[in-house]
Amino acid sequence: MNRLTSISTVVTGAGKGIGEAIARRYALEGALVAIADIDLASAVALRDEIVAQGGTAIAVEMDVTDRGAVRAGLAAVRDRFGRLDVMVNNAGISMSTGVFDTTAEQWMRHQRVNGLGTLIGMQEAAEVMIEQGGGGKIINVSSISGRRNNADWVAYAASKASGSSLIASGARALAPHGITVTGIAPGIVETPLWRGVYEDDAAREARFAAYAAQIPLGRTSAADDLAGAAVFLATPDSGYMTGQTITIDGGITA
Ligand SMILES: NC(=O)c1ccc[n+]([C@@H]2O[C@H](COP(=O)([O-])OP(=O)(O)OC[C@H]3O[C@@H](n4cnc5c(N)ncnc54)[C@H](O)[C@@H]3O)[C@@H](O)[C@H]2O)c1
Repeated sequence: MNRLTSISTVVTGAGKGIGEAIARRYALEGALVAIADIDLASAVALRDEIVAQGGTAIAVEMDVTDRGAVRAGLAAVRDRFGRLDVMVNNAGISMSTGVFDTTAEQWMRHQRVNGLGTLIGMQEAAEVMIEQGGGGKIINVSSISGRRNNADWVAYAASKASGSSLIASGARALAPHGITVTGIAPGIVETPLWRGVYEDDAAREARFAAYAAQIPLGRTSAADDLAGAAVFLATPDSGYMTGQTITIDGGITA
């Protein structure tokens, strides 16, 4: 507890899922939390809950693919919290598409949100951190799909590989400014994202049971399984770590 007291953090895509779990945990650890999401209503709902529990949070409407919106959102965070210490680029989209049926539109949409959105988040956060001085931490939520491809997730896997690649290149470019860039690669996480992939509840549950059977720890991940690593990567305990990704997948890639 209180490992992030008064640290100013932004979590993108924090209205739901993994981003929500990270934002909740950051608030519990005493951080000032900006819940940034394209869906303002979900960001506002989470902000209200965190504030009601005694935490400090603001809701920021932000489409991570829109540089102007990201810049304006980070300016609002600085106005409210004084500085920006930690940027978590978590927002992402996912559709199941195969090698032969992936359309150009699906390909570009994934690249736009998961690739370009991560690049813009990294660039804009780094500009603020360099300008204010004192370094900072950028954490990108990647995926095991970015490194271990799957024939059913072609556009998604390629876009997460773009995001993963930015962890290494960003780390090298930003190290002279005292900014670290690290990643978290989740496995199969039960979040609202999967409702878009398998709309039918029974089909989704069957799919999750099949996934669980392949996972050494015997279950799929909860969003909260990722939150502890996100705290570690935001604290000085990870100060000598950059350009690397922590995989948290119950052992599925072991
Ligand atoms: N769920 C999984 O199994 C899993 C596994 C590995 C990696 N991931 C990654 O974790 C991240 C979060 O996934 P999740 O499962 O929590 O997803 P989710 O769909 O449950 O939540 C994603 C959130 O991001 C927001 N969002 C979507 N597009 C946005 C945009 N352009 N700008 C700002 N916000 C936007 C949504 O409104 C939503 O609140 C993604 O990057 C995803 O690729 C998820």
